[in-house]
Amino acid sequence: MISKIKKILKKKNKSKIICITAYSKNVAEAIDPFTDIILVGDSLGSVLYNYNTTRKVTLEQMLEHSKSARLGIKSSLMVVDMPYRTYTNKKVALKNAKRIIKETKCDAVKLEGGSSIIKIVDYLIKNKVPVMGHLGVLPQSVKEKFKFKGKKNSERNKILNDAKLMQEKGVFSIVLECVETSLTKQITKTLKIPTIGIGSSQNCDGQVLVVDDLIGLNESKIKFVKKFGQVKNNISQAARSFKNDVLNKKYPSKKYSY
Ligand code: KIV
Repeated sequence: MISKIKKILKKKNKSKIICITAYSKNVAEAIDPFTDIILVGDSLGSVLYNYNTTRKVTLEQMLEHSKSARLGIKSSLMVVDMPYRTYTNKKVALKNAKRIIKETKCDAVKLEGGSSIIKIVDYLIKNKVPVMGHLGVLPQSVKEKFKFKGKKNSERNKILNDAKLMQEKGVFSIVLECVETSLTKQITKTLKIPTIGIGSSQNCDGQVLVVDDLIGLNESKIKFVKKFGQVKNNISQAARSFKNDVLNKKYPSKKYSY
């Protein structure tokens, strides 16, 4: 696990880090050869369950989806999001982080926030739990989605200081969600650890996308999302072909019968 993290750290200033979310075995298996990090994100709440907030995601949901994703991951570093209210204080956080690592065999956990959770992050890391940070837009804390961060000077200073603080406590990388381009550049330049961006421009050491967005299984219209596939169309096409073959008594033919 440590060597996988070292590999990620070594990529800083050399080669971009590829991170994609996955919530199940088959998807994880398909993306694993192309990713450095697979994140079982609590975005599964909106992606799979249509929740209007990630706050509704439970620890049990994260555990079950992570166990499934684990089955498909061979080489990537596996990170699991700690869901809302599972790190309310350092003792609760450690108990839940240890449970997540034990039951899902993931390599690290991700927590949202900066100075407000710094004591918790410090405690986890001192207790040998590898932690990834998450700054900028924090879906567990905000209601309005995808409003980028870093317009006001006070906000810029806070995010930069939080990033430095997180690095000081030992997080191995930080997700920057919807952070303004020049601030992202400043943070990435300032930190020794890699930044992984989502909606945060090219100025990051790596990029992460939600898998359903990336493969075109979602109806996502978010500005920063590029669809790299048309999987929803492919599924519909396969279902249409199946329907036609069954209606026309072409399937199952002898070849598919006992
Ligand atoms: O929950 C998630 O998938 C995330 C990524 C969008 C970074 O936190």
